[in-house]
Amino acid sequence: MSDPDAPPEATHYEPKVIRREDRRARVKSEEHDQIEYPIVVEGLVNQFGDFVVHEDLSLKVRRGEILGVVGGSGTGKSVLMRSIIGLQRPTAGQIEVFGRSIDDPGDDSEVDIRSRWGVLFQGGALFSTLTVGENVEVPLREFYPEIDEEFRHEIARFKVGLTGLPEETVAKYPSELSGGMRKRAALARSLALDPELLFLDEPTAGLDPIGAAAQDRLTRELTDILGLTVFLITHDLDTLYEICDRVAVIADKHVIAVGTIEELLATDHPWIQEYFNGPRGRAVRDNRDRTKAVDKSQDGKA
Ligand SMILES: Nc1ncnc2c1ncn2[C@@H]1O[C@H](COP(=O)(O)OP(=O)(O)O)[C@@H](O)[C@H]1O
Ligand SMILES: [Mg+2]
Repeated sequence: MSDPDAPPEATHYEPKVIRREDRRARVKSEEHDQIEYPIVVEGLVNQFGDFVVHEDLSLKVRRGEILGVVGGSGTGKSVLMRSIIGLQRPTAGQIEVFGRSIDDPGDDSEVDIRSRWGVLFQGGALFSTLTVGENVEVPLREFYPEIDEEFRHEIARFKVGLTGLPEETVAKYPSELSGGMRKRAALARSLALDPELLFLDEPTAGLDPIGAAAQDRLTRELTDILGLTVFLITHDLDTLYEICDRVAVIADKHVIAVGTIEELLATDHPWIQEYFNGPRGRAVRDNRDRTKAVDKSQDGKA
């Protein structure tokens, strides 16, 4: 007997959604709790014609961390990210995400591995002809076509709210937003599918220092609240110091060092020394030390 009080559409879509969510939840809890390294890259080679970008590059990303990825311009940070998410087929090497090879992510009955990560591409390109809400709905339409329209709108509104944007932003077009708001909207879209893993390619590029600091705080907060693991490409020293748990340095075609900034400073690689101990690196550190000293003296007064 059907419940006469139940909304008519509910019987239409709920069973499907619940079954799929259920399966996803199970996969999430079993795998996610066991896997120490959601991303494992070993012996990666990427080559375009004669031009070698990566040679024997290896990297492990720990569950729950924000890993900053740095390196000079053109060292292959974006290519590495594209390889991990399966958009760039490597010349050689192994890549595992959630313990599964990215070449062979499993059969059709399994949850599509692509639905378990979110990506904010360099430039954060939103579809300019779609509103912010419609942008956030794009991955939902692709991976969960069975979700009905009203529910999809609601999820989009929720994701937009999660990034701190005012409610009315849902109906706005990207061109009507500031750079910082566009980044937040792009972040909302990358969170559309409740990912476990987030890939951010230069998320503060083009923002003024205040906007960049706000975006950093948001990334850290969402990471902690949602239990995410984050692969964050940046050259923003503030971002590295403020929110990254560890930093991986790409130079000479591979990852030359991974660790906390303190650990990196203890190495004598010239690029690392120049980057973190050069004038800009020192300025960021001095500034942080000053801010901490002020905070301390104010704590004392309170
Ligand atoms: N599809 C491609 N075909 C040829 N060369 C490429 C391609 N994608 C990237 N490259 C080259 O690979 C190098 C690394 O690129 P990229 O990963 O974008 O650098 P970055 O570290 O600045 O993100 C660059 O020299 C770039 O020109
Ligand atoms: Mg890049």
